[in-house]
Amino acid sequence: MSKGKKVVITGVPGVGKTTVIDASMEALKAEGVAYTSINFGTCMFEVGCDQGIVNDRDEMRKLDQDVQRELQKTAAKVIARITDNTIIDTHCTVSTPAGYLAGLPSWVLEELKPDIIVLVETDEDQILKRRLSDTSRSRDMEGYVAIKDHQRYNRYMAASYSMLTGCTVKIVRNLDFLLENAVSEMVELLR
Ligand code: AP5
Repeated sequence: MSKGKKVVITGVPGVGKTTVIDASMEALKAEGVAYTSINFGTCMFEVGCDQGIVNDRDEMRKLDQDVQRELQKTAAKVIARITDNTIIDTHCTVSTPAGYLAGLPSWVLEELKPDIIVLVETDEDQILKRRLSDTSRSRDMEGYVAIKDHQRYNRYMAASYSMLTGCTVKIVRNLDFLLENAVSEMVELLR
């Protein structure tokens, strides 16, 4: 069976990773390049709903650590079955009441075997503003410093994931009103 490219795309909540992914998929489709995009959180949420342990996706990061790990494992196994070129929309780390939870611990990386990990980043004040204006979600209302710490911690974790798997790490900046720049960088990477 031929192996498609596996690209893991991450970013702190509200940075706009899903917006960048959707626009990049559209641009790639126009060029005839096909990717399947999977949202890791949705996959975990569906497993959690089936098991009757969660009702809202924003509740997941507040669940017991062992429960979050079990949901992670199951989601990774489901996603690993896909053999196409795949974008996995997820988190480098998840901010939980008990501290940062690794989004891609070794057992998830072993299943996913990513070729590239992308960190979508932007200035912390822009993330804060985007979270405040998104009324559709129960976003954590953190300050500038907490968001800055989280983005920095994600870089450290991406480096450790790269050491474990040999994947590359790419940083894509999604600056306010410059979405097209982020998209063209992402398309270049995925082509
Ligand atoms: P998930 O749904 O992936 O969480 P999320 O970070 O909240 O993701 P979103 O897609 O909602 O936000 P986004 O950053 O992509 O921003 P958006 O494009 O909406 O995961 C849900 C949950 O699953 C997690 O909380 C966690 O519990 C769990 N989970 C997931 N992966 C896990 C893992 N590996 N391990 C354990 N748990 C895991 O954009 C936000 C706003 O910004 C929008 O209003 C948009 O219009 C605006 N915007 C975007 N780009 C720009 C721009 N360039 N200029 C101006 N505005 C912009």
